[in-house]
Amino acid sequence: MSQTIKVAIDGPSGAGKSSIAKAASAALGYVYVDTGALYRTVALNAARKGADFKNNEQVIASLEALDVSLGFVDGAQHVYLNGEDVSDLIRTPEISMGASAVSAIPEVRKFLFGLQRDLADKNNCIMDGRDIGTVVLPDAQVKIFLTASPEIRAQRRYLQLQEKDVETTFEEVLADVKQRDYNDSHREIAPLKATEESIIIDSSELSLQETIDAVINAIKENTK
Ligand code: DC
Repeated sequence: MSQTIKVAIDGPSGAGKSSIAKAASAALGYVYVDTGALYRTVALNAARKGADFKNNEQVIASLEALDVSLGFVDGAQHVYLNGEDVSDLIRTPEISMGASAVSAIPEVRKFLFGLQRDLADKNNCIMDGRDIGTVVLPDAQVKIFLTASPEIRAQRRYLQLQEKDVETTFEEVLADVKQRDYNDSHREIAPLKATEESIIIDSSELSLQETIDAVINAIKENTK
């Protein structure tokens, strides 16, 4: 089998990774894989089983008999928990925080590793997450680190949540963003960080289209 093209996009929550990776994948004809959805699904399952997100043993026990899979409908990724489409249910502030907590557990990362690796070995893909360039796809031809200031990211997330009628305030969203940044970059296992070869793109001062163009250009330049 010929080698697939692997593009890793890592960065903090709310940097716009998913909208940007989705648009770039559509433009280039690659499969887009949002790995955060996998950690969110593990958190949703743990919550349903009554596990405390901070109790590693309870979270690990909740992995028993859990099947997480991804499907693509009209190019859009859907995530399934034991066959149930939970793509919308995982987008709440509670599950965001839960995903951040469960993703620090080595057994959870191990549980999801094979699925991510397998998708990238079978498809040309853009995969977004926190440890894609460092751990999941260290062999990616292109590694992008996409970031923006906490305030800008919180503002974007706040607007998204308002559109979905989720009740919250900007201050709460900003506090969540900062807490998750801290959790994601200070954990012992697979912390969020750029690699030496990462192309750093800061979207604070860029429009969505400018950021998409910067990402597409970086990919084209590095896959010639
Ligand atoms: O990208 P997101 O906000 O949907 O991710 C949810 C959480 O999952 C995030 O707080 C960190 C974790 N995550 C991770 O540890 N590794 C990844 N590759 C993707 C997400």
